Amino acid sequence: MPYENYYYAVHRYEDVKQVFGDAENFSSSVIPTHKSPFFVLMDGEDHKRIRSVVALVFSQKNVLKWERSIEATIKRITENFIKTGNGDIFEAWADPIPLATLSVLFGLATDKNALIKLHSDAIAINRALFVTGGTGPRRKNSPNWPEKFSISWSLLKNIPKLFKLRKLIGNEGMKELKLMTSMVDKKIETPRPNFNHIPQGIEPMLDMIIAFAEKLKAAEQQNANDENPLSVFNDHIKKGDVSFVEMVMAGAFILFAGYETTTSLLSNCFVHLARNKELFNELKAYPEKLEDFIEESLRYYTPVGRFLRRANNDVEIAGKTIPKNTIVIVMPGAANTDPEKFENGCVFDMNRENSRQHLSFGKGAHFCIGASLARMQVRIALQELLNSAREISIDESQGMEMVTDRDNGIFRYESVRFKVTSYQDKVTSDQ
Ligand code: HEM
Repeated sequence: MPYENYYYAVHRYEDVKQVFGDAENFSSSVIPTHKSPFFVLMDGEDHKRIRSVVALVFSQKNVLKWERSIEATIKRITENFIKTGNGDIFEAWADPIPLATLSVLFGLATDKNALIKLHSDAIAINRALFVTGGTGPRRKNSPNWPEKFSISWSLLKNIPKLFKLRKLIGNEGMKELKLMTSMVDKKIETPRPNFNHIPQGIEPMLDMIIAFAEKLKAAEQQNANDENPLSVFNDHIKKGDVSFVEMVMAGAFILFAGYETTTSLLSNCFVHLARNKELFNELKAYPEKLEDFIEESLRYYTPVGRFLRRANNDVEIAGKTIPKNTIVIVMPGAANTDPEKFENGCVFDMNRENSRQHLSFGKGAHFCIGASLARMQVRIALQELLNSAREISIDESQGMEMVTDRDNGIFRYESVRFKVTSYQDKVTSDQ
């Protein structure tokens, strides 16, 4: 049967809500490894167990406690961005903000080089791993010989790092990691990686796992502190609620779950304001409208447009039966403009009453843990921009392509040339 027959796309608002909200019938465990590497790809008790620990860290109460240090970091980045005046929006602003925020939280280095490395590692890992759950072309089930060779060669080159990792997580941890990376030969259709991308992802993945494992080990010596993610993770590892490797993988996952998503929202907000000068000035005059603007941006430019599930049973949606084991593409991007839910849904209107009902952070068991943190970062960054920038614009002549090759539903431009004029510039040019 051609691969098209194996996918069901769910795109109406009520249907997307139903799929997100029904973890019993729609499994998140779409990657055919022996154990899911990330808790977002787990179901049932295992998912709940790990999520409950991570959720302690990202509670709204904790996020508010971090506001000051996050604010200082984002203000610094935004001030430099405005001072720079022009360049690529991702390099100067939309990438560093979430990367630096996450690094501050996890105690990682926040200098420019460290952030550049984190950025390129996250992209390589994304390409190698996340496409595993992607919705792109049907891929073959296993690597061919040249791909197998290239994967083995990459592992061989990284033997010193593998040894370092074994020292940190022990033989049991290595066994657990192997379960997370080796594929089960399931007789059902499953998304498969682009095996070509795996070799380049191995070293960055090892670097990220090692960095987290080292941080977690170091935190064992510190006193429990309910705001420090590593300290909370350690506390629950000691109690036996979660394993060391599960928390290392949770930390590594948060680094990309919280990164490109927020980058996407930030850059889409900037582009929208640059294209709508009146709105930019309106927000300057009425900053209390900023939250409505952010919610409408989340709806209109859904930062991640699609996710995957697998039907655990034959399930009926909108009068159609989705057969057991079928892969379902869940499309919050489409749901967020469903005219049955959002009147004139394809029009950006920050005054609409129901923007907040968007499904951009998902719904139900897997609802985004970082939603409060993402909203806070974007609010601080835009507030600073509105305060300090007199005018913003983008160069539309530079072929603004949408991100296409990551296969993970990210909705944003690949690169955007920006120009920002500060009040300082105005004074200088008037003199
Ligand atoms: C605008 C930014 C963001 C968007 C649009 C977004 C979107 C989402 C969505 C739709 C899900 C549900 C996935 C599913 O149901 O399969 C999710 C899950 C998740 N998000 Fe976010 N996210 C954002 C920012 C963040 C941040 C800043 C963090 C952490 C610092 C984060 C951490 C997570 C985690 C850990 C999960 C998995 C939850 C689970 O499976 O229980 N996200 N996110």
